[in-house]
Amino acid sequence: MSIYLDNAATSFPKPEAVYTAVNYTLQKYGSSPGRGGHKMSMQTDRIIFDVRERIASFFNIPSSSNVIFTFNVTMGINLALKGILKAGDHVITSSMEHNSVMRPLKRLEKEGVAKTVVKCSKEGFLNPNDIEKEIKSNTKLIVITHASNVVGTIMPIQDVGEIARKKGIVFLLDAAQSAGLLPIDVQKDNIDILACTGHKSLFGPQGTGFLYIKDGLDVEPLIEGGTGSNSESDEMPDFLPDKFQGGTLNTPGIAGLGAGIEFIQKEGLQKIRNKELHFAAEIMSEFKKIKGVKLYGSPNPAERVSVVSFNIGEKDPAEVGNILNEKYDIMSRVGLHCAPNAHRTIGTFPVGTVRVSVGYFNTEEDIERLIKAVRDITS
Ligand SMILES: Cc1ncc(COP(=O)(O)O)c(C=O)c1O
Repeated sequence: MSIYLDNAATSFPKPEAVYTAVNYTLQKYGSSPGRGGHKMSMQTDRIIFDVRERIASFFNIPSSSNVIFTFNVTMGINLALKGILKAGDHVITSSMEHNSVMRPLKRLEKEGVAKTVVKCSKEGFLNPNDIEKEIKSNTKLIVITHASNVVGTIMPIQDVGEIARKKGIVFLLDAAQSAGLLPIDVQKDNIDILACTGHKSLFGPQGTGFLYIKDGLDVEPLIEGGTGSNSESDEMPDFLPDKFQGGTLNTPGIAGLGAGIEFIQKEGLQKIRNKELHFAAEIMSEFKKIKGVKLYGSPNPAERVSVVSFNIGEKDPAEVGNILNEKYDIMSRVGLHCAPNAHRTIGTFPVGTVRVSVGYFNTEEDIERLIKAVRDITS
């Protein structure tokens, strides 16, 4: 049987309830939410509302209208960065970011936004003092990832949030690798904008995600279009969430995302985290004993999410990934993982690493087979 160890890209499989919710919504609630006064449209609207409420309660968001549905975290990050930063502003980020942060920032730089990239340690850790040192009078926003998608390092988000709050700077968190796995409380963690993707640890389908935007922030929409509200006007409504939600939503996907979050709530975040941590710790501890295997990131599994990056001697990671796939039926992800700066930071640019990322539905046998495969490849 195939072994899926690419959960950091997209979680697979999903809880049964997610498939049921997507299918049920497609079959029973096929209409556009918020667009018609008829029965089905109102029921579809209700589904969207319920999921929005669920998200708000899961992340301690004070009001569910501040939850804006997006198609992934990339869209949410683009909305936040391009909707806030203007020529003359300064933005701070870290050297462990995904291209979903670095590429919009590059574009904004060309439009006159100044950028500082704070260097993280070789293990991928961010020192919050290094962020504080870079703050200037025109610093408008700090954006960092909660957990690295390359080595899993968990960032000190509460400290960064506190620094941002003290200085009146907007704090945007990319929670792609942490939402559904690590506790996130937007109020306690001083998060002004939370960007999440639905298809990773939240167990939703691809094409889902959301953005929380705190009240009182001045943000321009990324997309203009129909909202089913204020239709007489050529301009977007100025209230949330409609201001940022032009176009028909992915209702079946959103219903699936809601079922994914409900699964986490029923199962318990800590239980999910513990199981994944146990597997990642086992992989790290066994890989350490195999001659020729080099592990990256913190040696302490508790300081990371369940992402393990490694290389075997001088072998090209692409070749290792190919052998794992072809000979052992194990799916990993190789290369730069859309995060070239992170690989520069840990010293693996340009070839990258082999990344295995465990999920809640992996089994002890999957992990044993992976360890045995890597032993075989090195011997
Ligand atoms: C840290 C991080 N940020 C952003 C993304 C982009 O996610 P999506 O493709 O769902 O927008 C990913 C996904 O790989 C990620 O790991």
